[in-house]
Amino acid sequence: MAYHLVHHRNGSTSVACADNDEIMHPSVGPEIESRTLYVEGLRLAEELALNGRLRVWDVGMGAAANALSAIEALSPLPGRVDLLSFDHTSDALRFASNHAEHFPSIARHQDAVDELLNSGTASFGNVHWRYIESDFPKWLTAGHAEAPPDAILFDAWSPRANPGMWTFELFQQLRQRVSERAALATYSRATCIRSALLLAGFHVGRGPATGAKEETTVAATCLDMLRDPLPKQWLLKAERSHSGRPFLTNVFEQAPLSDDQLKQLHAHPQFR
Ligand SMILES: C[S@@+](CC[C@H](N)C(=O)[O-])C[C@H]1O[C@@H](n2cnc3c(N)ncnc32)[C@H](O)[C@@H]1O
Repeated sequence: MAYHLVHHRNGSTSVACADNDEIMHPSVGPEIESRTLYVEGLRLAEELALNGRLRVWDVGMGAAANALSAIEALSPLPGRVDLLSFDHTSDALRFASNHAEHFPSIARHQDAVDELLNSGTASFGNVHWRYIESDFPKWLTAGHAEAPPDAILFDAWSPRANPGMWTFELFQQLRQRVSERAALATYSRATCIRSALLLAGFHVGRGPATGAKEETTVAATCLDMLRDPLPKQWLLKAERSHSGRPFLTNVFEQAPLSDDQLKQLHAHPQFR
């Protein structure tokens, strides 16, 4: 993958990938988006206070903006945090680290980032950070014995560019792997992604707005974890959508939901 820098109007900088023409944290940049969408969207500090322990999966580590935002929010707090970052390459983080003057959170933690890149682990007080280099869908299917996550920062490339990271099967597997009280945040608000999360057994709600995105998505095992659950009227949108069907393979294909899928969505406890 070939990476380059993109500078935003507010003075922040993102890493972009030339191979798929996508930008990590577009428009407002990594620090604001990672804090708003993932740290605040998942109420990580509150969940840590509730349990005294939090296991966080950072899916699509990229240049580690989400991971470092979580670390900065959680490391001053009491309790233990295990943060697992997944990616099939650490090249984006190496690239950003070589341009740390544009990435304040990397510059603030340069030693720990170097340690993670060199050894696969780093510690920040109560936060233990580990990097797992793997193809995430394959890793999940292989059934590795990691403890169930309480929070998932889900930040793959877009469904169009990276469909294998957004399949129904992947969300089903995640639903089976997470802890009893767990939530996942992602920037996508696409109907096919929200349908996949609902059909996989999550409750689904609107996540915070960030930059040009008017809304994002939060999925949770417990309805009370959602600030803004999708209302029953959302089903009308799903019925009318030409692209509401979850991806059954790792190919980007747009199709409407089947009658059976719509029936299952209507029967979902969130809409009863
Ligand atoms: C939008 S970027 C992530 C940005 C990152 N979360 C951050 O805060 O800087 C998407 C990331 O997903 C990773 N990715 C894509 N497909 C993957 C796969 N099959 N397995 C693991 N990682 C994958 C890419 O390598 C890329 O780093």
